[in-house]
Amino acid sequence: MKEIQVRTLEDTAHLAERIAALLDDVACITLDGDLGAGKTTFTKALGKALGVMRTINSPTFTILKSYPMGDKGTLYHIDAYRLEGITQELGFEEVFEDGVCVIEWPCLIADQLPKERLEIKITLADEALRVFELHGVGERYKRIVEAL
Ligand SMILES: Nc1ncnc2c1ncn2[C@@H]1O[C@H](COP(=O)(O)OP(=O)(O)O)[C@@H](O)[C@H]1O
Ligand SMILES: [Mg+2]
Repeated sequence: MKEIQVRTLEDTAHLAERIAALLDDVACITLDGDLGAGKTTFTKALGKALGVMRTINSPTFTILKSYPMGDKGTLYHIDAYRLEGITQELGFEEVFEDGVCVIEWPCLIADQLPKERLEIKITLADEALRVFELHGVGERYKRIVEAL
């Protein structure tokens, strides 16, 4: 586990760049944190660092959006917020095997998540300070957290 303090949008962008540089073509990142914590902001920054040219918007009404990362595959952005109370399996497996997946509100699809993943929890400590807690689940992601 590692804690990183983020005070500005530039800090989020910098952290996203460092993580992007360590990711494989197929990867999973979960983002925990309250509304307004900065999950979508981090996703936008990660997409930019991975070569996404389109603007990443909050997919609240669509659950899943996909973005080409230049010629390096696909970034999938899942926002499970609207799935509260839905227990049906949604068949994300294909997506999880295909590209870099970033998942907001992972707790709502907890039993469907890939076994190995980078878990990030964002806490707003005060108006000007966000704390990113990074936790690697599985060897590959533990190594990523150690390398940061
Ligand atoms: N590192 C940061 N520094 C300053 N403001 C931030 C930062 N990250 C997010 N914000 C701001 O916080 C607000 C909520 O961010 P957002 O990413 O939409 O949160 P979430 O997706 O967790 O609900 C936005 O106005 C965004 O600009
Ligand atoms: Mg969001």
